[in-house]
Parts: sequence; structure tokens; C-alpha cells
Amino acid sequence: MKAFIIAFALCFVTVRDAAAADDDLDEMKASLSQGNVIDRTRLVADLLTGYNKGVNPDAVPVQFGINLLDFTVREDSNALDSYVWLKIVWQDDRLKWDADNYGGVQVIRVDSNTLWKPDVTLYNSADPVNMVNCWDSNILLWSSGKIMWVPPCKMTSRCKFDLKKQPYGEQMCTFKFGSWTFDGNAMDLQFYNKTTSIDLTELNDSSGFEVLSTTAERNVRFYSCCPDPYIDLTFNMTIRRLPGDELFRKF
Ligand SMILES: *[C@@H]1O[C@H](CO)[C@@H](O)[C@H](O)[C@H]1NC(C)=O
Ligand SMILES: *[C@@H]1O[C@H](CO)[C@@H](O)[C@H](O)[C@H]1NC(C)=O
Ligand SMILES: *[C@@H]1O[C@H](CO)[C@@H](O)[C@H](O)[C@H]1NC(C)=O
Repeated sequence: MKAFIIAFALCFVTVRDAAAADDDLDEMKASLSQGNVIDRTRLVADLLTGYNKGVNPDAVPVQFGINLLDFTVREDSNALDSYVWLKIVWQDDRLKWDADNYGGVQVIRVDSNTLWKPDVTLYNSADPVNMVNCWDSNILLWSSGKIMWVPPCKMTSRCKFDLKKQPYGEQMCTFKFGSWTFDGNAMDLQFYNKTTSIDLTELNDSSGFEVLSTTAERNVRFYSCCPDPYIDLTFNMTIRRLPGDELFRKF
């Protein structure tokens, strides 16, 4: 997990400065200084002075992606339990700083409960209360005001299974994500790294099903109630039971 976060951090810096040549990579690595505890203490105190986590940044672009780790089909309740890492990246100009004034600190990890976070949630949750259940893992914050949060989460989505007639047939499950309160003008929800699929590189296929494909689309909808656009990111995942799994489950 640590390696994952660091890899993300490095990739992320690369993405931020797409023009940078590969030669600059070492420099960028070196620039990810955390400084020392005295610098960080002063920095966090200064950043949070006058900051109100209850107030959202203006017109905030939010990148959102999913890493699927594991999933379990609950055929009888037409639900899918998924274990994921969500990847959420945004910008908060209130949290910028000049590294030179803080002993060269370029990046810090902060308690996720101290900052404003996008309220992106799973709309087709099968659990009406805990729509997405995440560990409040730390947030990575760069001096540019860029923020990345990668919480590990459990979620249960509604998914209609048809396994009685066709135990090995293809099943499609959907995950619809959107902000719970912000319209598209206040929060511009986009795909993380422009990726219109679920990242399966960390999937541990212990469920007895295989993932055949994933797709995703960004929808901008208008409702009769309000003039503002509402954005959702909807991921489709097609799965199929692995041969032998049903046999295994009978004995
Ligand atoms: C972004 O996507 C490209 C492929 O489209 C991939 O090569 C790159 O590693 C991804 N970057 C991150 C940070 O995920
Ligand atoms: C999944 O996890 C189990 C237990 O940790 C491990 O033995 C197995 O090799 C993993 N499978 C894959 C495909 O990574
Ligand atoms: C996801 O599935 C729904 C329902 O079948 C379909 O309407 C939608 O176009 C699909 N989206 C993508 C991106 O495949």
C-alpha cells in the first residue's frame, strides 16, 4: 500500500507537469520533500488558520477513479459487495504554500477529517445508510494546492443477477457515482487520469467470478427542478462465473 501511494504520488507529479522530460524525474522525486516536523507543524497551523472545512472551494474540478480489489456476488439479495480503493484528486487554492517559507516542504499527509472533501457517493447502493464505507486514510497535499485521497472502501451495490437459469452467463453490474449535494457548476466531476474503466491491476479474484470488461461514461443531466447540471460517473462491469465454482459451492 505504501509503495502504491508513492507510485501514485510520483505518477501524479509526472502528470501535473506533463511537459517535464524523464530526466526531471529524479529532480521531482527529490522535490517531494516532507521537511521536518517543526516546518510541517508551522505549515499545517498556517494552512488551517481561517480555513473552514465546511466550505467548498469554488468550481472545483474533481477526478474520480476506482481500483477494484475484490468482490463478492450475493445472488439471493441481488447485491454485489466490492472492496475498492477510490482515487479522488482535487484542487483547493486555500491550501497552497510556498515551499521556501517552510523548509522546502513540498508534500504533506494530513488527517482526512481536517480538510474539505468532495462528497462523491454511490447512488445505486444497496445499503441506504452507509452508501460507501471508507477508512478515513490520510490525504496527500501538495504545495500547489493539489490534493489526493485514496481511501480503501467497502460498498454494496444493487445488481440484478440472473444465475439460476444461466449459472455461467454474463452478468452486468453498475456503479453510479456522483456528488450528493453539489451540482456540476460547483463540482466538475471527471474521470481520474481520463480513464473510462475500472482499474483491475490490484484485483484479487477470490470471488469465483472473472471480470470480462469494464466501461464507464460521464453523464451530465438537467432536472426539471433546477437550472444547474448534475454530473455522474457510471461504471459498468461485466462478470462471469468461473467454471467449477458452482460445483465447488455445492460440496
Ligand atoms: C494515466 O493513464 C495512462 C494511460 O492512458 C497511463 O499510462 C498512466 O500510467 C496513468 N497515470 C496514472 C497516474 O494513473
Ligand atoms: C489473492 O490473495 C490470496 C491471499 O492473500 C493469495 O494467496 C493469492 O495469491 C492472491 N491471488 C492473486 C490473483 O493475487
Ligand atoms: C452501461 O450499461 C447501461 C445499461 O445497460 C447502458 O445504458 C450504458 O450505455 C452502459 N454504459 C457504458 C459506458 O457502457
